[in-house]
Amino acid sequence: TANGTYRNFLDLTDFEGDELRAILDTSRKIKSSRNGVHRGQGPLAGKVLAMIFEQPSTRTRISFDVGMRELGGETLMLTGAEMQLGRGETIADTAQVLSRFVDAIMIRILDHNDLRELAENATVPVINGLTKLSHPCQIMADLLTFEEHRGSIKGKSVAWTGDSNNVLASWIHAAPRFDFELRIATPGELAPPMDLIETARAKGGSIQVTTDPYEAVKGTDCVVTDCWVSMGDDDAESRHNLLSAYQVNKRLMAEANQDALFMHCLPAHRGEEVTSDVMDGPNSVVFDEAENRLHAQKGILAWCFGAA
Ligand code: CP
Ligand code: NVA
Repeated sequence: TANGTYRNFLDLTDFEGDELRAILDTSRKIKSSRNGVHRGQGPLAGKVLAMIFEQPSTRTRISFDVGMRELGGETLMLTGAEMQLGRGETIADTAQVLSRFVDAIMIRILDHNDLRELAENATVPVINGLTKLSHPCQIMADLLTFEEHRGSIKGKSVAWTGDSNNVLASWIHAAPRFDFELRIATPGELAPPMDLIETARAKGGSIQVTTDPYEAVKGTDCVVTDCWVSMGDDDAESRHNLLSAYQVNKRLMAEANQDALFMHCLPAHRGEEVTSDVMDGPNSVVFDEAENRLHAQKGILAWCFGAA
């Protein structure tokens, strides 16, 4: 993960040993001490983060912006359409040019190869702000949230029900690294790629895949879901038909442990993948999860800059 003097944050699979755990510890420490809330004198004073959003965002955009400022740095908010990227300048050339101006780049872009190309050609840290394949920053916030509420996630179980998407992929990446059991329920047509599962299992991950949401959720410590139609999906109708049986509602939550947490990366579609009674119910931690995007980003930023 270290590339010369700077470090990328592209995927949880890129990390060895206890590095991810150390980032989470930094996030927690920064959160509890409110370290770096004074602009201009924090650990990232004088640093500029460029953010490129090729897709919409509320949480990722605002948490990176506020997080960077609270650590003393500054941000630039960009979209491909506003840059020459939108007129065909290559990702590789853009990476080289941006590296002359800014100290780090965060990008949200559907094609994971574009993220990789940016990272390969930039000489400053690059952070994955979501691609079609993964969403590692989200899972760092989710782990932080689980552990704040329930202590170490090691040996606990997490059930995912619904679509197999970028957020699930990062949960799969995290399972062997953080030693929790992951139980996945998706329709057969939308099952996670077998190589993703096999790679995580080869690293020691305990991962079960089923088509039955009740089987996945039974006796679990955490129930997670996400939207049925992700950015870039164009088959909304068939997804709704396939996924309606995977809704997280009171009946499904009743199968989980009584104190099981409910998590969702948001934005949620109430009445689709989750009912309002669950989303607003006593087991739901979705807004803590959203807040923790801020604290997780700060840990990730500090790590990328070698400031933690
Ligand atoms: N969870 C998440 O990444 O939200 P945004 O799309 O609003 O950034
Ligand atoms: N799976 C969703 C996550 C949004 C934060 C998407 O890719 O649209």
